[in-house]
Amino acid sequence: AAENLLRVKEKVRDASRVVVLTGAGVSAESGVPTFRGAGGLWRQYKATDLATPEAFARDPRLVWEFYNYRREVLAPLEPNAAHRALADLERAKESFVLLTQNIDGLHQAAGSRNVVELHGNIWRVRCSRCGNRKEDRRVPIPYPPVCESCSGMLRPDVVWFGESLDPDVFRLAYQALERCDVMLVIGTSGVVQPAASMGLYAKENGAFVAEINLEPTPYSRALSVSLQGKAGDLVPQVVV
Ligand code: NAD
Ligand code: APR
Ligand code: ZN
Repeated sequence: AAENLLRVKEKVRDASRVVVLTGAGVSAESGVPTFRGAGGLWRQYKATDLATPEAFARDPRLVWEFYNYRREVLAPLEPNAAHRALADLERAKESFVLLTQNIDGLHQAAGSRNVVELHGNIWRVRCSRCGNRKEDRRVPIPYPPVCESCSGMLRPDVVWFGESLDPDVFRLAYQALERCDVMLVIGTSGVVQPAASMGLYAKENGAFVAEINLEPTPYSRALSVSLQGKAGDLVPQVVV
């Protein structure tokens, strides 16, 4: 285990083009509930009732209640040592791209600049009719939230199950994966595509890819190294 940590540390130190992919696990130590682990959101709620376009069409009020609840949980939370270490790493590298599945905005709060939000951001709303986006940090957002330009219903600007990633986001992500020397995959269970297979994709394109997770994932054995432990402990050790 100690050799593996050292090896990742050296690879990160020597790399000039770094990509990081994060999931809910990187925010867990800030108090953000994950989706699938113990206490995970999708153990308590049915994702298909709350995080799909069909759910929003059927019962927009219920979906908005769920996202207002999540905003209330997230609003007071702060970045942790893992978020901060990744912001430091960005400052040290010639090229750095942070791909995140998280919608909480904690990477930006920690000072990360080049963040690609694969699944959107919970602090933005988007019109379900005309597509207009805007930041909205109110908690809760009063119901029904209505678009100023077309009076359509606003929705959270996040990617739901059954939806595709934004094509520009998709392109940026794959370009970064193809060009990096080293990639870190942190705190993601590796079950939601396409993010799940991004580590393997970078490895197939020549990168050294290390996973950091509390537990093994479906990709652990296929990646270059898998480190087991908390992101808040391991990420600062790997990037110094
Ligand atoms: P899925 O397993 O059905 O994957 C969709 C497929 O489409 C994948 O094979 C992917 O490679 C492909 N794809 C996605 N975007 C593409 C693009 N722009 N161009 C070409 N191919 C593309 O995924 P799913 O379970 O339907 O989930 C879809 C997305 O919604 C996931 O990214 C998921 O994490 C997200 N999601 C978000 C929330 C939330 O609350 N924020 C909840 C549920 C799902
Ligand atoms: N340090 C490192 N890893 C952790 C920690 C921690 N402190 N706490 C939890 N983990 C790991 C868990 O072992 C698990 O593998 O983080 C992972 C979290 O997995 P999920 O809850 O499935 O979250 P994620 O992979 O981000 O989910 C993907 O699913 O519902 C959708 O759109 C949502 O973006 C989300 C996507
Ligand atoms: Zn509109």
